[in-house]
Amino acid sequence: MDARVSVIDKRLKNIKRIISVASGKGGVGKSLVASSLALNLAKKGFKVGLLDLDLYGPSSHIILGVKDVFPKEEKGIIPPNVHGINFMSIVYFTEDKPSPFRGIDISNIIIELLAITQWGLLDFLIIDMPPGMGDETLDVIRFIKKSEFLVVSTPSKVALGAVSKLLKILKELKIPIIGVLENMSMTRSSFIKNEIDSMDLPYLGCISFDNALEESIGKPNKLLESDFMKDLDDLLEGINL
Ligand SMILES: Nc1ncnc2c1ncn2[C@@H]1O[C@H](COP(=O)(O)OP(=O)(O)O)[C@@H](O)[C@H]1O
Ligand SMILES: [Mg+2]
Repeated sequence: MDARVSVIDKRLKNIKRIISVASGKGGVGKSLVASSLALNLAKKGFKVGLLDLDLYGPSSHIILGVKDVFPKEEKGIIPPNVHGINFMSIVYFTEDKPSPFRGIDISNIIIELLAITQWGLLDFLIIDMPPGMGDETLDVIRFIKKSEFLVVSTPSKVALGAVSKLLKILKELKIPIIGVLENMSMTRSSFIKNEIDSMDLPYLGCISFDNALEESIGKPNKLLESDFMKDLDDLLEGINL
């Protein structure tokens, strides 16, 4: 067995909760939700880490406006603190250049990131996941035994089709699902809520489409004041995180 795998449990043992923000689909707002959730919890005084595991399309660093900071080496790698969040991403190592990885590389990078990162004591580690049920998702399930999933959908049958597949697999594997968050809602339709209810899973609420959101990208202070954050905050009040 890969010796690094046995190190991972040790690295994660002082983290109270690990929340993977996932979806069957791309472009539904996983990265926005993951980064905003991390900012929101950090502002409330929790110790928070954020790990961007979307290795082909990392974007949390763009949302948080992370520039010119690097992890420190000290018996592993200590993620830099960005706006109160211990932030770890592949971009520290790829310098944000296009990174064409094959499946085996993906698992290797994930094991490496998990084995070297010194998170320290955390209340929450939020993971920004790539779409679908590929290597990254399977590796998170395999290596991060205590991860719970927060699943993002948009109010579209197309998104829901992919999201349902992810939910079904997570359920079959008995992975804890916090619930489904509906993002970019534009009408008062209860389509997604009804579908999630019928799957016997928690529907967490919805975040409206925010026309001004783009202006907050790269500016965490502005993001904290956005309508998107207000909706997320209302939604979090209903969940006991
Ligand atoms: N509620 C929202 N209102 C407006 N734009 C949004 C909303 N949620 C996400 N977006 C935008 O949609 C795009 C995709 O979001 P992103 O978080 O990158 O999705 P994913 O990580 O699922 O691929 C981004 O440009 C983001 O700014
Ligand atoms: Mg993303």
